[in-house]
Amino acid sequence: MKNKLELQWTNKNKALYYDPTSKKYEWVDKKDPRVSEPRILIEKKLYGDKNTENILIKGDNLLGLKALLQDYQNSVKLIYIDPPFNTGQAFEHYDDGFEHSIWLTMMRDRLFLLHKLLRKDGSIWIHLDHSESHYCKVLLDEIFGRNNYLATIAYERSGSAGIGQGGKFLVNTHEIILVYAKDITRFDVSDTLSQVPLEKKVMVRYKYVLENMGNKKLIHEFTSKSNGETVKIYKHSDYLIKSISLRDFANREEEILSEYLANFTKIFRTTNPQKENSFQHELLSFMDKKNLYSVDYIPSRGKKKGASVTNYYNNKEICAWLKDSASIVENRIVKQNKLTDFWSHADIPKADLANEGSVDFRRGKKPETLLKRILDMTTTKNEYVLDSFAGSGTTGAVAHKLGRKWIMIELGEHAETHCFKRLKGVIDAIDQSGISKEVGWQGGGGFKYFELGDSLFVQDEDLRLTVINPKMYNGSLIRAVLKVEGFRLKNPDNGLHGISGTTAAHVTEQYLTQEYVDTLLNEIGDKAKFIVIYAKTISSKLKVPEYIEIRRIPDVLLKKFNV
Ligand SMILES: C[S@@+](CC[C@H](N)C(=O)[O-])C[C@H]1O[C@@H](n2cnc3c(N)ncnc32)[C@H](O)[C@@H]1O
Repeated sequence: MKNKLELQWTNKNKALYYDPTSKKYEWVDKKDPRVSEPRILIEKKLYGDKNTENILIKGDNLLGLKALLQDYQNSVKLIYIDPPFNTGQAFEHYDDGFEHSIWLTMMRDRLFLLHKLLRKDGSIWIHLDHSESHYCKVLLDEIFGRNNYLATIAYERSGSAGIGQGGKFLVNTHEIILVYAKDITRFDVSDTLSQVPLEKKVMVRYKYVLENMGNKKLIHEFTSKSNGETVKIYKHSDYLIKSISLRDFANREEEILSEYLANFTKIFRTTNPQKENSFQHELLSFMDKKNLYSVDYIPSRGKKKGASVTNYYNNKEICAWLKDSASIVENRIVKQNKLTDFWSHADIPKADLANEGSVDFRRGKKPETLLKRILDMTTTKNEYVLDSFAGSGTTGAVAHKLGRKWIMIELGEHAETHCFKRLKGVIDAIDQSGISKEVGWQGGGGFKYFELGDSLFVQDEDLRLTVINPKMYNGSLIRAVLKVEGFRLKNPDNGLHGISGTTAAHVTEQYLTQEYVDTLLNEIGDKAKFIVIYAKTISSKLKVPEYIEIRRIPDVLLKKFNV
């Protein structure tokens, strides 16, 4: 698009190949097969339930995400990623200091694939800090669309700043989570509430109990100017209001809480109406300072617009009921607040973080409660959650304990030493850390562990040519060719190897003769409208009907890439 606002950086038109031997990124052409070839995934292990749909992949996530595209496009409800922040440091398990343009390219190419994997009603959460978050916001605007931006969360990493803490100017205590919807019109933006157990500071305000409302007498009736509905004002007599004493709170807390529980629906506080609310001020003009009143009316705006409402007024102030902003959960009163974009350390404590999941992952592991909050807000049971920078496996562990399906990708050895070990502990219910107790985790489920298949191509140094990787034969050759060509694997053991719509694919290493083709056509019969046969060597005398296409490998595959 002309005149589009976008970020520019060195080598923006290139891609990055992650070399697993040097553990470094290398600039390459976007069509280089090392970055553009979709790889197959090889199942190495299964843990627990053999029908599981949970997946852990070890390898570079660019290739991992590409490998997932065929089966998981538009399938993932939530993506949470916590990539290297680019703080310039090298951590024990991973590098966190990239040249700026390397970080941006690395992220752009992965965000592009993540966007494709996300469901229309899904969301992506990107955990960063100030090092790159502002640049990433611009990248996200380019890939997800600026209109799909949902929030920037300030996540307080640590509590109050001591005098000794770092920071040249102000002490930095928060990280940043950028949130985007795939399509904001499909994303559920209904109120997200946080639940906080009833605290003393709330009780100080909500301390009145309307024991009984006595008798009421109509004192005034008028028609509302805003909607023409009738407004009735009643004065109450013989009513009883008492207040709950918070005296000696520290020693009497239990007793006080029981009193709140017993009177839950009758507890209120009073508040003055806003100056500009002329309707409320008009109502108050009919009341005196020492009595209880109630008003029946139909609001013309706001959340209760059009509904019949009764409001109470005591001593010329409006009564606000505890039950309207709190609820009883497991015999405790919890106050519901609308969640803000500041997530405090007090709300998401991480006292036991080092031990969570029984894996040591210093300076990278995120608290399970943080992930639980995000998953609770954005997913329901059995929906897919994906984390392609898995680290110690927090996202998978939380998704598992909450009954979500999960996909994780991790590059380092810790895919096995941490993620595999941690999820095993979750399945066996040995892990009782993090959110386990809160959700009553009992164990169960399973996951599959994959590694990335080799590339289909290798460089033949003698011939100075790119040739088919000799490691690729039989089943793996069939799977790799089908993947590159966009066919879904059907059955490697009979003629119908792959399928895409009404087109079937067959891959062979044998010399393709007329007899071979005729036998194959017999076998496939009317199971497909068109058939593509991939072969390395082909008889020049071959005669095939119109609905058959013969493609030579590797030539036809190499054409897709810059080799
Ligand atoms: C900050 S850690 C994630 C921590 C994680 N949220 C947790 O709670 O344990 C970032 C992780 O991304 C991984 N990573 C970096 N580049 C990657 C890549 N190209 N493919 C896959 N994983 C990668 C690193 O190895 C590291 O484990």
